[in-house]
Amino acid sequence: MSRILIRNGRLLDPVSRADQVGDVLVEEGRIARLGSSLEAAGAEVIEAEGCWVAPGLVDMHVHLREPGYEYKEDIASGGRAAVAGGFSAVACMANTRPANDDPSVTKFIIDQARQNSPARIYPIAAATVGLGGEVMTEMAALYEAGAVAFSDDGATVENAGLMRRVLEYSKMVNAPVVVHAEDAGLRGGGVVNEGAVSTRLGLPGNPCAAEEVRVARDLSLARLTGARLHVAHVSTAAAVELIGRARDEGVQVTAEVTPHHLTLDDSATQGYDTNTKVSPPLRSKADIEACRRGLASGVIDVIATDHAPHASYEKDTEFVSAPPGLIGLETAFPVVMDLVRSGELEPLDLLRCLSTNAARILGRRGGQLGEGLPADLVVLDPEHIWKYVPAEGYSKSRNSPWAGKELVGRAVATLVAGEVVYRLDRGVID
Ligand code: DOR
Repeated sequence: MSRILIRNGRLLDPVSRADQVGDVLVEEGRIARLGSSLEAAGAEVIEAEGCWVAPGLVDMHVHLREPGYEYKEDIASGGRAAVAGGFSAVACMANTRPANDDPSVTKFIIDQARQNSPARIYPIAAATVGLGGEVMTEMAALYEAGAVAFSDDGATVENAGLMRRVLEYSKMVNAPVVVHAEDAGLRGGGVVNEGAVSTRLGLPGNPCAAEEVRVARDLSLARLTGARLHVAHVSTAAAVELIGRARDEGVQVTAEVTPHHLTLDDSATQGYDTNTKVSPPLRSKADIEACRRGLASGVIDVIATDHAPHASYEKDTEFVSAPPGLIGLETAFPVVMDLVRSGELEPLDLLRCLSTNAARILGRRGGQLGEGLPADLVVLDPEHIWKYVPAEGYSKSRNSPWAGKELVGRAVATLVAGEVVYRLDRGVID
């Protein structure tokens, strides 16, 4: 087992809120010591001056596409993209082919991850068979097989009675139900935010109300059942408002927002770039502001990427027919650093949203920097300036609105279970 010394970094622990310059000694897969001027003969040294040393980032919403769509991504490539972005663990969605609606698929994902992924992978199982919204999955069996949550993400559960049952069954295993909160009828064929931009572009609009009514319904059902509801990729001011109010009333609800919904508004779609087509769509500046305030106030718990790889030939088509989604694992940290640079979030709060809260919601360890804990760590350089070129990254796909852009901030080393799995100067280490 490796012995690693991370030296002279800014040690940030979102749990204790400790924030001081020091060293981290990793031995036998664990954080052996936190301190200053630590010595360790024979250790691999990572010089972290000017860098943040934090718990490995945890992304609770990614699409790894395996099984079935390996031409877009697979568990190996997605796991590599994760550690290159500073994530030591990711939770993968069930909209694969076959869907993760059966324990055999859950076990397959866990097996593949063990063999091929440098990042920890937590499978999220489907709530309904084939994500069809008609028949519940065997949720207890999926949980037994290793699923950490339930979600039909990418699809929506239109039947409120069925959703109620899903929430009730989730309580038996105390796992959250992650909802893609969008009313399919209201969304219709909408592909961009409904408003001035959709009119100008001549594209069908998806109104904010599609999210608002579905969040309202699911909050009512969470209140009725007492189950744990997690709202995925919140994109509207109305949803933030509803979630905040329900939480104040004691509803067990958590929520996430993506880096793109925090930084890009619907004007980004004006060039018809299909890499800006996402579900839910990019919204207005006012919605972005509300999401950012929701994060700062704690109404939104988590930043999750919704990393959604699609092949170039699939994206290279008319806006209406392109599949929604963008890749985000390798750009999340620099993109959301915008909130620290603007003074809206302290570094500790950003890291809480990028690690601690997701680990807590999924019931996994992680998100904490403390002696004796498993050494899932990241060294982040908040000042590193670089140009993002998807082809130079680890994802199999290229669909990013940040392609070719200059970004500030980057992971320089990622550790999983005490092993260095990524270094900026060496790449992913197998
Ligand atoms: O943009 C998205 N893409 N949103 C989703 O909910 C699904 C995802 C995908 O699977 O491509």
